[in-house]
Amino acid sequence: MKIAVTGKGGTGKTTLAGILACYFRDDGYKVLAVDADPDANLGSAIGIPPDLTASLVPISERRKLIKERTGAEPGEFGQMFKMNPVVDDIPDQYSVDFEGIKLLVMGAIRKGGGGCACPENVLLQSLLSEIMLKRDEVVIVDMEAGIEHLGRATCKAVDRMLITVEPGARSISTAKRIMELAAEIGIETFGVVGNKVVTEDRGRWIAGQFAPVEILGVIPYSEIILEADRRQVALINRLDENLKTAFESIYRALGPKG
Ligand SMILES: Nc1ncnc2c1ncn2[C@@H]1O[C@H](COP(=O)(O)OP(=O)(O)O)[C@@H](O)[C@H]1O
Ligand SMILES: [Mg+2]
Repeated sequence: MKIAVTGKGGTGKTTLAGILACYFRDDGYKVLAVDADPDANLGSAIGIPPDLTASLVPISERRKLIKERTGAEPGEFGQMFKMNPVVDDIPDQYSVDFEGIKLLVMGAIRKGGGGCACPENVLLQSLLSEIMLKRDEVVIVDMEAGIEHLGRATCKAVDRMLITVEPGARSISTAKRIMELAAEIGIETFGVVGNKVVTEDRGRWIAGQFAPVEILGVIPYSEIILEADRRQVALINRLDENLKTAFESIYRALGPKG
């Protein structure tokens, strides 16, 4: 199963991606968690101790690796480089393994400038495509609010694109824009997750925004989530009954056994 999580900044992408990684792991799956947000913090949402992730250099910042694989100097345009760099060893070699979850930090994709054909983007895109098309683990990608780094081929491999929203018009319109763009490049299976929902009313309001498309689930607003974030501890070990019910229902809706 290959899952991509996207949505407006601050709506809970990383929280959801992290907790789902833990659910799949606890259910016996091998999990590869991919942090594709330049502001990388997926490790903390999984509950990986900060000292373990501190030593992780994002792939986009590994100049030696980029040069070795693409044959070109990172950061420079207009060079000749390999369009199909070898990347199959990277997920295992350059990730941290934490209690059955491998975390791979991609780093920032450079934007702008003539289609972005710089060596680091070519490497990152090849890597993402390798991960989505060839790996046999459950893959969960925590993305930015955009879907720029998903090429067509990579998109086809996404089983489910989860989009987090909160009870506000702005995150809903971001979600709809993402869905349109994603549909254009071939993604069909979305799952909207309402987050930070204080009352059932607000949950219903979110659902109404996407009707007739059903939303996948709703996560209540919870101090437990904030507190786990603040203290940089594993949320999965601190869930109360409300959160358990919410996350389990989202997890089941993903149909991990199917
Ligand atoms: N259901 C929730 N209740 C309370 N706080 C939440 C909830 N979900 C996320 N948060 C908090 O909101 C902030 C943004 O969440 P995060 O998952 O980092 O969003 P994103 O990755 O979309 O930017 C974090 O401080 C997180 O702890
Ligand atoms: Mg995030």
